[in-house]
Amino acid sequence: MMKKSAKFVINHSDKLNGQIDVYGSKNTAMKIIAACILIPGKVRLENIPDILDVQKMILILEKMGGEFVRNGHNLTVDLQNLKPIDPDEDLVRSMRASIVLVGPLISRFGKVKIPHPGGCLIGARPIDLHLKAFRNLGVEIEENQQSCQFNYKSSPQERKVLFSRISVTATENVILFASFQKQKTTISQAAIEPEVIDLINFLKQSGLKINVFGRTIEIDCRQNLKPIKYRIIPDRIEAATFAIMAACTRSNLKINNIIPKHLEALLDKFKLMGIKFDKGKNFLYLKNTPAFKAVNISTAEYPGFPTDIQSPMGVLLTQAEGISRIKENIFENRLGYLSELKKMGAKINILNSNEAIIYGPTALYGAKINSLDLRAGATLIIGGLIAKGRTEIFEAGNIDRGYEKIEERLQKIGAQISRVKI
Ligand code: UD1
Repeated sequence: MMKKSAKFVINHSDKLNGQIDVYGSKNTAMKIIAACILIPGKVRLENIPDILDVQKMILILEKMGGEFVRNGHNLTVDLQNLKPIDPDEDLVRSMRASIVLVGPLISRFGKVKIPHPGGCLIGARPIDLHLKAFRNLGVEIEENQQSCQFNYKSSPQERKVLFSRISVTATENVILFASFQKQKTTISQAAIEPEVIDLINFLKQSGLKINVFGRTIEIDCRQNLKPIKYRIIPDRIEAATFAIMAACTRSNLKINNIIPKHLEALLDKFKLMGIKFDKGKNFLYLKNTPAFKAVNISTAEYPGFPTDIQSPMGVLLTQAEGISRIKENIFENRLGYLSELKKMGAKINILNSNEAIIYGPTALYGAKINSLDLRAGATLIIGGLIAKGRTEIFEAGNIDRGYEKIEERLQKIGAQISRVKI
């Protein structure tokens, strides 16, 4: 599973063409696999990407007695014989999304211990919202520098969670915890990202009653969940990455297997910039637009402009005519990739850890750069494709976390990119 250290070597490749399929959503796949902890029987999941984060999630659950059979993008999950042991510390520590195992594991076994998640490159990313919500719902938590031990004591009379800040995984964790309880739970100020709604749809089809009203989610008392077959939504961040790549490389590219509604915030910006595209029921067709205008972006919770698309958008803005401003409002340290783009010749003024001004259009030049994190890595691939000369992006594993066989898929639409083992 674990890939050896590798880098991507990219040579200038404009005017990509043809079609590319978007795979299933990483951020949904992880949570729906965790939801299977609550389901007695074999769940058949479709559209599950074969990416590093999903592989790690599977490995964590296999070590606890779970059984998985993968056939292409179909995954059969059988967690009936899961043992009440703690998830592997190193694997959990290596992947923040594994925090969503806590809700279903406390629900099923009454207790679980996980290592305390450390900081990461896009900010401190604490778990205080998760902890406060679990405490409100009757879970005792012993916390120290190394780990968090959760023990479910008893349910409070009123099962209510009011988040002081909107959090995707904290909302999902509470939904997963509440799905197995004997009383109704209400969550206010919940995240309603498409990935959260897909998890809810999966649980609904499995037999749970859940209602969503604006940012309030009501989870009815536990029903007998049943194993189902479920196809997860396409990855809107991967779709956006390909759309931005097409615009940057002045390509005519059809992007298949998408839900256009999930991309509205990006497409609104494309319209303002004058980037030409057509959309159909499940595809987006980017048309070569030789010149486009600068635009400002400011990230926000769904349906606002997604933080995960902020960095690919950053490279697009280096090619836009005029001055653009980026404001990152979700994470406190997510502009690191701009320093890598500057090494490639981009004209950027980083005002502080959340704001930057980009001057365009500027030619980029090949450089040796670091992928930093998943989305920054994908951004730099786009930078490499439009740069003159050769670009080397180190730590390819960061990109493999969320994009399946990215180099093979991009080669098929004309990109000069290869993976080189180091
Ligand atoms: C999820 C997504 C990630 C996306 C992000 C925002 C997964 C696996 N990852 O991350 O791709 O970029 O949503 O859409 O689904 N916060 C706290 N305390 C907490 C939890 C969060 O202060 O207990 C803060 C975070 O530091 C951040 C903000 O809340 O500043 C939003 O984070 P959150 O929505 O929780 O992000 P994740 O769920 O980790």
